[in-house]
Amino acid sequence: MTHAVVAIAYGGPDVLTLVEDDPGDPGPEQVLIEVRAAGVNPADWKSYTGVWGNDPDNLPLRLGFEAAGVVLAVGPEVEGIHRGDEVIAYPVRGAYADRLLVPASAVVHKPATLDWPEAGSLMLAGAAAVHAITATRVGAGDTVLVHGASGAVGTLAVQLAHLRGARVVGTASPENHEVLLDLGASPVAYGPGLEDRIRAAAPGGVHAVIDTAGTDEALDVSVALVTDRRRIATLAGFARGAELGVQLLGGGKGADPGTQVRHDARTRLAELAGAGKITVQVGATYALDDVARAHRAGMQGRVQGKIVLLPSAGMS
Ligand SMILES: NC(=O)c1ccc[n+]([C@@H]2O[C@H](COP(=O)([O-])OP(=O)(O)OC[C@H]3O[C@@H](n4cnc5c(N)ncnc54)[C@H](OP(=O)(O)O)[C@@H]3O)[C@@H](O)[C@H]2O)c1
Repeated sequence: MTHAVVAIAYGGPDVLTLVEDDPGDPGPEQVLIEVRAAGVNPADWKSYTGVWGNDPDNLPLRLGFEAAGVVLAVGPEVEGIHRGDEVIAYPVRGAYADRLLVPASAVVHKPATLDWPEAGSLMLAGAAAVHAITATRVGAGDTVLVHGASGAVGTLAVQLAHLRGARVVGTASPENHEVLLDLGASPVAYGPGLEDRIRAAAPGGVHAVIDTAGTDEALDVSVALVTDRRRIATLAGFARGAELGVQLLGGGKGADPGTQVRHDARTRLAELAGAGKITVQVGATYALDDVARAHRAGMQGRVQGKIVLLPSAGMS
């Protein structure tokens, strides 16, 4: 019998429970995957901690929006994907599982050079970063400010901005400034005095902002630095972002989900990561039945880099 993680109630990580799960055989345009790695994202805990509502009709709630694994079976009307292929599946639902049925349209091939944890945690953050870079029209010669630059979306946004020929100033805790320096960005600590520190780090001015922090501080400083609010995008601060008239990207009322740009980004992200032109920083891996501990670490910001669940690590 295979297993999946569900939230059996709304609350903290203690509600996460491993249950038996048989996904069945793939139907038309479906693919069955043996999951080797499932990326953990803040969206996962936002879905059961009440941030996005607490409708009892949605329980038990399956978790996990991205996975990498091996194709076990393909259904009718699937082309170009075969049993045994190593693939990345995004966007999906319920990726925290040993086995997962996904639409064939969610599947791209995994580059051989990526290991399972990297492959399983590249796409959600990567597609969001591509969306933000595209929406803010980052280009050669720009100086881009990335709030939360040491995070999953932030580190990828930094690297993608560099590939477009931009310079990056990134905010992070001082203990993560080395991470930004290694990526070639200029690190700045967030907190009181942020605007002055950014002006000092970017004497030629800031042309665009990508906000993954979502704080009022990050957004207020952004509008003080950049006149054109269409060149400021937030992925995390929708209430303040809407008040200020900046771009809101992702799910949520009034936001641009960027469905097509994110879908199209997957192949390019796989190519870039496979060629070593961008890297996903994996900070910690956990077995599937250790999911509550993984979430506690993520929610407390204790891990630098992606947290990844490894179903194939077996039950402890
Ligand atoms: N809208 C979308 O489509 C979309 C997609 C993906 C993610 N998101 C959201 O974007 C946010 C970041 O996601 P992620 O996966 O990158 O998370 P993450 O890997 O946990 O990174 C979050 C980063 O935020 C930084 N941070 C914490 N407090 C901060 C503050 N007060 N000011 C500036 N930075 C601060 C942390 O930096 P230090 O550790 O250095 O302090 C950390 O590196 C989450 O809210 C997530 O839900 C939205």
